[in-house]
Amino acid sequence: MSLPLASSTLLARIAVEEPVTSHPVAPPLFQTSTFWAETPGCFAAMATQARHPAFYTRYGNPTTRAFEDAVAALEGGEAALATASGMAAIMVAILDVVGRGDHVVAQEVLYGGTVGWLRNLAPYLGIDVTFVDQRDPDAFRSAIRSTTRLLVLETPSNPMMRLTDLRAVTAIARARGVVTLVDNTIASPINQQPLSLGADLVVHSATKYIGGHSDLSAGILVGSAERIKSASDKACLFGATLDPFAAWLALRGLRTLPLRVERHNATAITVARYLSVHPAVAAVHYPGLAQHPEHALARDQMSGFGGVLSFEVGGGLAGGEAVVAGLCHAHRSASFGSFSTLVVHPAAMWAGMMTSEQLAASGLPAGLVRLGVGLEEPSDIIADLQGALNGMPACR
Ligand SMILES: Cc1ncc(COP(=O)(O)O)c(C=O)c1O
Repeated sequence: MSLPLASSTLLARIAVEEPVTSHPVAPPLFQTSTFWAETPGCFAAMATQARHPAFYTRYGNPTTRAFEDAVAALEGGEAALATASGMAAIMVAILDVVGRGDHVVAQEVLYGGTVGWLRNLAPYLGIDVTFVDQRDPDAFRSAIRSTTRLLVLETPSNPMMRLTDLRAVTAIARARGVVTLVDNTIASPINQQPLSLGADLVVHSATKYIGGHSDLSAGILVGSAERIKSASDKACLFGATLDPFAAWLALRGLRTLPLRVERHNATAITVARYLSVHPAVAAVHYPGLAQHPEHALARDQMSGFGGVLSFEVGGGLAGGEAVVAGLCHAHRSASFGSFSTLVVHPAAMWAGMMTSEQLAASGLPAGLVRLGVGLEEPSDIIADLQGALNGMPACR
């Protein structure tokens, strides 16, 4: 006869029995840090299987795996690795391919955190980096050396919305045995699939469009099963893998991604067309506009042009600041890909990080405003912009 269990022991053994016939429509959240095995043999099998989805959450978790498999399918990749942030995915991808003594070629305009990593951390780790103009495939060709292992690309790039010719640049890299990593965050997997254009690895800040609700931080790396297995081994050692709750939120966001992106695309082109004829706007940067210098390339490699655009107003820093200050509905916030329209004044943001000489050398116009259009009614977004541009904010 077994003795009654103490309350502490009872609580330690609480489990939800899964009915054999249960088929939840929404994938359940496995909010557990670890999994147990029926027998020592099963435990040994769990512990030794590569990327086991239910052994120890840092190595694998069924909720996280469902999120990884969904993004891999969207990007047309064999496998994916979810990470704690977009920057974690970028770091894991770089350090899986390059080490001390290796060389990286990166485009000059990349997300600021990626530039910071390549400029500040890479030299510390003995990795040499050359930056080139993303618009010129020959610049990549000329920069490749015998020690070059990786090209780091981002298209469209933030905040000037310049494009990289993915077919041309990845073909150059492939011919020289160099791996290509593409940050596809701004386009989203709905508008662009870099693997189908020749890239080896694709990375996303899932904090943006994939999550879509401004409520999580996550990253994801997609590629061949072999590359992802190797990157995943590193990510486990770095402790950079994703928490299951964030994976569950990301999976929930992902289900509406095609619908949201369709709306972001439609709103952004409407807003870009409105801005392009406004007398206070000197230039609009959006690859969907016919006057964008790489519009033909955008039509070739993207199926939609995304929800991020930037525009220039006169009056330098003060001019940009006045427009951003005059917006009543858009949130002044350093992100995009949200249900809400998010706006930043990049020169003001960068001014705190750079000298005025560095800022001038960066080529960033002082009056540039970046807009990540949200899911609001397009006419409301335009009315908000109109009030700010005409100096008559809609809320005053
Ligand atoms: C294009 C791009 N890549 C990567 C990142 C980094 O992502 P996270 O903030 O999730 O680390 C960002 C963040 O803004 C981004 O805009």
